[in-house]
Amino acid sequence: MEDDRLSRWRRGFTTRSAAETERAGEELAGLLPEGATLLLGGDLGAGKTTLVRGLARGLGVEGDITSPTFALLAVHRGSRRQLLHVDAYRLAKPADLDGLLLDELARPPSNTVIEWPERVAGREPPGAWRLTIAAGTGDERRLQLAP
Ligand SMILES: Nc1ncnc2c1ncn2[C@@H]1O[C@H](COP(=O)(O)OP(=O)(O)OP(=O)(O)O)[C@@H](O)[C@H]1O
Ligand SMILES: [Mg+2]
Repeated sequence: MEDDRLSRWRRGFTTRSAAETERAGEELAGLLPEGATLLLGGDLGAGKTTLVRGLARGLGVEGDITSPTFALLAVHRGSRRQLLHVDAYRLAKPADLDGLLLDELARPPSNTVIEWPERVAGREPPGAWRLTIAAGTGDERRLQLAP
């Protein structure tokens, strides 16, 4: 059952609204292993933060998820798990990820999501999941989890 859902993510699927991407993120919260980091790729406005909003809801986070572009990092308490939300867009270099002290801030059970993972190339935590969102026609977005 869980395997069926996971294989759909691995095959990839298309959403047709922001609400649908948010629901997908909520489902992903039930699939992502405890402690795992999600590397969330996709161009400007692809829908990364929209997906994180659903993921946060799935982890039991109450309140708003905004893009932490200017803060680099937001830490959210969730009733199921804590969520560390990183937007690496403005990181000058991958090594700067260490300065965010993610390991020190994490209070297990937790998950970390990193938007703009290309900015942390070479510093990805081992075992991280990689999800890409690609814009299609209109509101279509293709979501695919790398193997
Ligand atoms: N199918 C869809 N899935 C997600 N977002 C969609 C979809 N269709 C339209 N949108 C719109 O696209 C925008 C996505 O914005 P969002 O902030 O989530 O993107 P982002 O990838 O985080 O951008 P940034 O790179 O600036 O952080 C929103 O305005 C949302 O309403
Ligand atoms: Mg964003």
